[in-house]
Amino acid sequence: MTSDAPAGGATLFEDIGLLYTADPEREEIAGAALIVEDGVVAWIGPSSGQGAPAADRRVGVAGRAVLPGFVDSHAHLVFAGDRTAEFAARMEGLPYSAGGIRTTVAATREAADAALAANAGALVAEMLAQGTTTVEIKSGYGLTVEDERRSLEIAGRFTAETTYLGAHVVPPGVSADEYVSMVTGPMLEACAPYARWVDVFCERGAFDGDQSREILAAGIGAGLGARIHAGQLGEGPGVRIACELGAASADHCTHLTDADVAALADSGVVATLLPGAEFSTRSPYPDARRLLDAGVSVALATDCNPGSSFTSSMPFCVALAVREMRMSPKEAVRAATAGGALALRRTDVGVLRVGARADLVILSAPSYVHLAYRPGVPLVDQVWKDGVRVV
Ligand code: NIG
Ligand code: FE
Repeated sequence: MTSDAPAGGATLFEDIGLLYTADPEREEIAGAALIVEDGVVAWIGPSSGQGAPAADRRVGVAGRAVLPGFVDSHAHLVFAGDRTAEFAARMEGLPYSAGGIRTTVAATREAADAALAANAGALVAEMLAQGTTTVEIKSGYGLTVEDERRSLEIAGRFTAETTYLGAHVVPPGVSADEYVSMVTGPMLEACAPYARWVDVFCERGAFDGDQSREILAAGIGAGLGARIHAGQLGEGPGVRIACELGAASADHCTHLTDADVAALADSGVVATLLPGAEFSTRSPYPDARRLLDAGVSVALATDCNPGSSFTSSMPFCVALAVREMRMSPKEAVRAATAGGALALRRTDVGVLRVGARADLVILSAPSYVHLAYRPGVPLVDQVWKDGVRVV
């Protein structure tokens, strides 16, 4: 990785073959140029840079594609240990279950802060190299007051988008009632200062509807925004609860009733789809077309975690969404940029418009369509974050 910190002044990106902005006003522009100044987009215009304000330096894009940095709005990066054997067993026919989380919890509790931070940092670096400039990071593999608190403190070293997921699963040795009291009481109190969001795994084998509602309501009461794991393994009450409580996002949404789809469309709750989980658990993919046709806002994210989806690659998720979830390439890239930003209620990222953060990706390809057309090929050539080249 390189870091080209401009010493101030404006940088002109010229001769962009296709600029995908994710801005509905002008979503893609063939033959574009863009100026970045003070870490934000300052100007967008024709590829020659004609009519542009003076720039201090130029970056020649040579006809290739530029798009906003990906916004990965769902990831579990604070953990230790390895679940290769569980994955291999699944590929030989064993089903995925929520219980595997406990294996990672045991390893995470044993790990020193430095080891957890090194692992999370390595995954964030992997993400950045693949074009992700904003990432949400959840706790959820500590499941004691102190292990959840330190997980969030470590997550906060890498992102402002930290999510308290004390309600990932009930840990061994505690009753469900005792644990919900802890999650909504002393654990919330210890974690809230380090978190922006609260999340709960609402699923058979994890937390039921009443528990999920109580946990999210407590988090909201402590000033956190709500998000939820809902409908990953089967239909359930999670989406309805997200809509009732005004959550920013309902995540997974693989198993939805018609009423769930209608509620998402009416409420404005983003449906965040995580196709890496279906890939890695060999399960049927969510039907993005059904959601899009109903007018639901859709985001795409990696769900990067050691159990159900150990990928850090947004380009991989875009390719899966196009091939397996009936999304067009443009819909998938929109969901991976502007969709992720909406799921995090951010307007400054996931879009290239004047005033937005200068987080952008230059592909070694003429169009963002290549992200699905050439799956598995490392097409991310340069990544700029806050106007600074970081890859
Ligand atoms: O989003 N669903 C809950 N949490 C993760 C899986 C975690 C694990 O298996 O370790 C998910 O898929
Ligand atoms: Fe998850």
